[in-house]
Amino acid sequence: MSSQVPSRSHLTNAATNWNDFDAAIYHGQYEKILPEDAALTRAFIRAVRTHDELRNRLGTAATALDVAVGGVLRSAGLLEPFTRPDARIILADIGDTQLATTSNAIALGQKGDLGKWRKHEEDMAAVDPRWANAIGNACLKGEVRRFDIFSLPPAEYEVISTAFGPESLTSDPAEYRKSIRAWLRSGKPGAVAAMFYMINSTGYKVAGKEFPALAVSPADVQDSVSPHMLILEHFTTPASGGAREDHDHTTYGGMGMIIGIVYGDERPVQPAA
Ligand SMILES: C[S@@+](CC[C@H](N)C(=O)[O-])C[C@H]1O[C@@H](n2cnc3c(N)ncnc32)[C@H](O)[C@@H]1O
Repeated sequence: MSSQVPSRSHLTNAATNWNDFDAAIYHGQYEKILPEDAALTRAFIRAVRTHDELRNRLGTAATALDVAVGGVLRSAGLLEPFTRPDARIILADIGDTQLATTSNAIALGQKGDLGKWRKHEEDMAAVDPRWANAIGNACLKGEVRRFDIFSLPPAEYEVISTAFGPESLTSDPAEYRKSIRAWLRSGKPGAVAAMFYMINSTGYKVAGKEFPALAVSPADVQDSVSPHMLILEHFTTPASGGAREDHDHTTYGGMGMIIGIVYGDERPVQPAA
């Protein structure tokens, strides 16, 4: 990776106990909508409106995946308008509390109780009315699954996302690239793929416990995904300082969103001029 920011935690993914991650505490942080959250949401929806390759896929997908879900429903809500009424949206993670928090949030959502997600949904709808019921609908289509990002089924999904996943599950550059590749290979050729990431994160605390991250720059992320997907938009936004439990604004340098189309093979392909 080109960034030289050292990680506070040197843990690999396998060496981290993801059952130590208190997803209820982590989930609580989504009570507040950070300037970064709002900016990434707008950037995602604007990208879909701008690019025919994305807009034409609205309402078409039978299968969708958000991996490293961590109990958080925003990404599933962003993906939902791509899916058909009978679609399944898989919400996947490896940690127990992450899966339980996700199950709880979707069970409440299925009964119409979106809690803190209501405001996120309103913000999406304010950008485009096609997102008006997106989080509620995502709960109706949602299925929680225990999946390790490194062993996702290949070429399975028609729309895929990961939010603060690959760069926030290891401090090891090789493992980061491996998780990116495994995530993007889970998309069918032509699938919509969207990734949200922390810029230059040095790791993060959840309920006082330290979790690993790899400090990636936007150029690093672009470089790591570009062999596997056609990038249509790449957006970055500065750090507000609010994303951290300890309010330590020095532990990340902003957030990014990259969206495009999965090639479905391992060779770099140049878009037509
Ligand atoms: C920083 S949290 C991101 C949560 C959420 N997507 C969000 O938007 O805030 C990282 C998540 O990655 C999950 N994770 C870590 N290793 C994983 C793996 N090998 N496979 C799937 N998920 C994993 C963790 O359990 C945790 O929920």
